[in-house]
Amino acid sequence: MDKFIVDGGIRLEGSITVSGAKNASLALMPTCLLTPDAFRLLNTPDNRDVLTFRRLLESMGITSAMDGHELTLDSSAINSHTAPYEHVKKMRASIYVLGPLVARYGKAHVSLPGGCNFGPRPVDLHLKGLERLGATITIEGGYINATAERLHGAHFHFDVSSVGATVNVMMAATLAKGETLLTNAATEPEVASLASMLVEMGAIIDGIGTTTLRIQGVDALHGVTTTTIPDRIEAGTFLIAGAMTKGDLTLENVEPLHLSAELQALQDAGCTIDTTANSIRVRMDANPEPVDITTTPYPGFPTDTQAQWAAFMLQAKGAARVRDTIYPTRFGYVPELQRLGADIETGEGYCVVKGGTRLTGATVMSSDLRASASLVMAGMIADGQTEVLRVYHIDRGYESIEHKLNAVGARIRRESTQEF
Ligand code: UD1
Repeated sequence: MDKFIVDGGIRLEGSITVSGAKNASLALMPTCLLTPDAFRLLNTPDNRDVLTFRRLLESMGITSAMDGHELTLDSSAINSHTAPYEHVKKMRASIYVLGPLVARYGKAHVSLPGGCNFGPRPVDLHLKGLERLGATITIEGGYINATAERLHGAHFHFDVSSVGATVNVMMAATLAKGETLLTNAATEPEVASLASMLVEMGAIIDGIGTTTLRIQGVDALHGVTTTTIPDRIEAGTFLIAGAMTKGDLTLENVEPLHLSAELQALQDAGCTIDTTANSIRVRMDANPEPVDITTTPYPGFPTDTQAQWAAFMLQAKGAARVRDTIYPTRFGYVPELQRLGADIETGEGYCVVKGGTRLTGATVMSSDLRASASLVMAGMIADGQTEVLRVYHIDRGYESIEHKLNAVGARIRRESTQEF
């Protein structure tokens, strides 16, 4: 297992190129199950989750090849419709194979994902949506069994806005017979980018980027070459890191509109932000004003950036409240930040960060992907050295984060460690 040794007291200055969006890639990759044609995904990030998804697809007979950031997938020799527990337990998004498999092959056998590090994450809406399209679903031995002759169009309303359920049901609806209407669909850019790719593949989808998706089913889809959108969560992480270190950081290959909530919060905290069509520059030279944030579905402040915001608020001139309405128990990083000297209180679904305490380097433990990022960031402003254990979490979603940050002034060293 690897750990990071992070030197405190650094300042980030320079330019970072943002990778393709992990969560977009994970949604684009399973579309290879909807067509026998090969296709290419450009700007694919080379991180652990993408690798895990490739291994899952390979276990089903799909060929995959990564050349730099160009991923080629070909499902013409598929020989299994099973997503085994050994893959699904590593990554919940593995469930994205369910919709395409039942839509195209009429059968799918997919392990239930189980719990995760920040509370219960049900998949009921994935299943209900597919049932509404005509799939028969049973659960047995920890597996979802889905079968269908051919799916048919229907109206399905998502009780809760869900990225994953929208992805699964929308993919399935593209090959269903007739029209599907999805209401209260997720509008995250990663969902919209999947919908646009499906249209390039021959699907008929109206309302892309809105909560109402109207899909006319087609008989077949074809392969395409498409470019993955920039990772707004990686970008948000680096922007906050730049501000925290009172730095001057420019991010290239970003879509500023995808970060509207984060940019406004940074400006409210006192940062200077300049944007072009595909770059964002953040400058900060003082401690931030305390700024409360509340996570909500897109275009609100993302749950995937709340832990990083809490780390930023450790320097605030007062108390800031961080509320998560999507995952109300996603505060596992708080006791770790407290080990560095942070003054944070937690309540139901929120924490209050009282800025201004002295932070000193310590050994801390990553609990999930974004929590790990917040620990690295806090380490960069603490006195002395911070050891962040279990950085495999961070490797799931960030490509070479230490190299990217070291190139702009951070001092982060990766070491392997014997941890039991
Ligand atoms: C995706 C993102 C994850 C992000 C999350 C919220 C990917 C691979 N992951 O996860 O990084 O933190 O969106 O933006 O894109 N829910 C149900 N029933 C369901 C499904 C979800 O009640 O069947 C609830 C969840 O418990 C949660 C809310 O819906 O409270 C949103 O979750 P969802 O958007 O589905 O998250 P994921 O797709 O798992």
